[in-house]
Amino acid sequence: MQSETITQALTAVCREIDRVDACMLLQHVLNVNHAFLLTYPDHVLIPQQTTEFFCLAKQRIGGTPIAYLTGERAFYDLNFKVTEAVLIPRPETELLVEWALKLIPVDQPRKILDLGTGSGAIAITIAKHRPQSQVTAVDLSADALAVCRWNTKNLRVNNLHLIAGNWFDELSGERFDLIVSNPPYVAESDPHLKQGDLRFEPQIALSAGDNGLACIGHIINAAPRHLVKSGWLLLEHGYDQAAACRRLLAHRDFSNICCYPDLAGIMRVSGGQMNASVSI
Ligand SMILES: C[S@@+](CC[C@H](N)C(=O)[O-])C[C@H]1O[C@@H](n2cnc3c(N)ncnc32)[C@H](O)[C@@H]1O
Repeated sequence: MQSETITQALTAVCREIDRVDACMLLQHVLNVNHAFLLTYPDHVLIPQQTTEFFCLAKQRIGGTPIAYLTGERAFYDLNFKVTEAVLIPRPETELLVEWALKLIPVDQPRKILDLGTGSGAIAITIAKHRPQSQVTAVDLSADALAVCRWNTKNLRVNNLHLIAGNWFDELSGERFDLIVSNPPYVAESDPHLKQGDLRFEPQIALSAGDNGLACIGHIINAAPRHLVKSGWLLLEHGYDQAAACRRLLAHRDFSNICCYPDLAGIMRVSGGQMNASVSI
């Protein structure tokens, strides 16, 4: 394969893939930032770089998500390794983290639980920003936990404990000040599962029975047995599930129930506080 300049390489693929995507792939191959591409458009790629870039571009044309091609995704203020074993962290999930951080004091120890941790985006970000807290992260997928373990080490987090298991099953008798979760919530019949990036992401991370509400319902139902009095439960959910979440939380006697919209104005995160007067 002949050598190409940055401009030639980008021009060659930009008819078939988005320019932003092409730049991200080239930055990954050259291990440079975007400013480098803009500053040195005549920089010549060595042949291996040209081959690798066109190989990645071809996979992108086939639909593979950029994050799986580059192996990383920025979330909040950290960079996470991602593989096909984990959901690609989404910007809307940062809303859940922001709400959680508001509830956790910086200078006092708290026990936090993240259910369905995947890459560890939520658990690791909370652990990093609240070093006094002890964070527990659970996932059913051993492959996802391996990615989370790698991120924990790489981001030098030492207040996070990983558990393999089904939701609360391995936590009998344990109580937390705050439980957070971004569980699978897409209805199994949703046609979006066969479109775009979702085609490449693990089904176990995406879809749930009961029209997408099975995991949310299970977590809300079991959470009171694992929360301290006045503890909080925060959940991310689908664009049309806020009312159902509110109903499920109210049914389990949570108080101070609120929903917050994401940047697109879609109600995306709901939560409530254990009613201190309810005996569990
Ligand atoms: C939507 S992904 C969220 C990943 C990550 N927390 C994030 O926000 O990017 C849901 C996660 O739940 C995990 N999961 C699915 N079913 C589970 C179960 N029964 N028990 C524990 N984790 C489960 C999946 O493996 C996946 O990592």
